[in-house]
Amino acid sequence: MSDLNIDWANLKFGYMPTDYNVRCYFRNGAWGEIEVSSEESINIHMAATCLHYGQEAFEGLKAYRCKDGKIRIFRMEANAERLQSTCRGILMPELSTEKFCEMIKKVVKLNERFIPPYESGASLYIRPLLIGTGAQVGVHPANEYLFVVFVTPVGPYFKGGFFANPYVVIREYDRSAPLGTGIYKVGGNYAASLLANKKAHDLGYACEFYLDAKEKKYIDEAGAANFFGIKKKVERRQIPIEELETLEEAGACGTAAVISPISKIDDLEMNKSYVISKDGKPGPISKKLYDKLRGIQYGEEPDVHGWVTVLD
Ligand code: COI
Repeated sequence: MSDLNIDWANLKFGYMPTDYNVRCYFRNGAWGEIEVSSEESINIHMAATCLHYGQEAFEGLKAYRCKDGKIRIFRMEANAERLQSTCRGILMPELSTEKFCEMIKKVVKLNERFIPPYESGASLYIRPLLIGTGAQVGVHPANEYLFVVFVTPVGPYFKGGFFANPYVVIREYDRSAPLGTGIYKVGGNYAASLLANKKAHDLGYACEFYLDAKEKKYIDEAGAANFFGIKKKVERRQIPIEELETLEEAGACGTAAVISPISKIDDLEMNKSYVISKDGKPGPISKKLYDKLRGIQYGEEPDVHGWVTVLD
C-alpha cells in the first residue's frame, strides 16, 4: 500500500487503474471458471447485445480498510441478489450468490494495496458488470455473456463529502417509466439521466431530482442515489413533492452517495424552493445516520443485520 503515490484525501469519485480484474464467461448454457486478468480492456463482438440493445447490468459496492486492520466488504450478498433480479428483468443468465461473492472477495484481495487507508475519507469501489457479448442483430437476448469485476479507489461522490448540497427538480425528463426498467440496475436508466444531470450542474446544483414519471406528483429519486426524508416515524411510502415542506432533514443515500444531506430543493418551474436546512449544514439526524452507517461499515458498530463480510 505504501508503494502507491496516491493523494487519498483528495481522491475523486473517478477511475484509476488497479492491478487485476476478475472475469467469468457464460458459454454453451453455463458459467465457466473464474479468470484473473490484468487487462483493462475487453474484446467483444461488434454485434454484442450490450452495445446495441443495452443488455447489460452493473452493481456497486465498497471495501474498507478498518481501524482493527481488517478489510470489510459491505452488503455483498444483497448486491448479488439485486444483480440476479436485474438478470431476470432483462433476460440474462443469473450468477449464483456464491460465485458472485467468490469473485468479489478475490478481486479485493488481489488489489489489496489499492484499499485506501483508514480515515482517509476514501474507499475501494467495486464495480461488477454483466454484459451480453453474443452477436445478435434482431432484438433478442444474447447466447454468450461476460461478467467482469474491477475495483478502483474512490473519494466522496459529491464534492466535499458529508456536506449539505442544493438539488433541483427536473420536470422535463423522466428517469424511468413506471413499468419499464427503472427497478433494475441497467445502464439505460443512467443514460436517461445524463441530460437532466448536466442541466442541474449547469444551473449550479449538485444534483438533479426526479418526480414520478406518471403523475409528476411524487418524489422519485435523486439522480444517482436514493432519497430519504426525516420526520417522526419510519415509513417507506410515496412522498408528494409538497411534503418536502414538512421535512426536518433530507438527503441522498446509496453506495456511492453514502448519506449526502440536501440543503434545499428548488422546483424552478413551480417557482418554489423547499429549504431543508436553514443554516445550509447537515442536520443532527443525518449526521447520526451517517456515523451509524460508517460505524457498521468499519466494524465499529455491531453488525446486527449481517451486512458485513470480513475478508480473510
Ligand atoms: C452506486 O451507488 O453504486 C451507484 O449506483 C451510483 C453510481 C452510478 C455512481
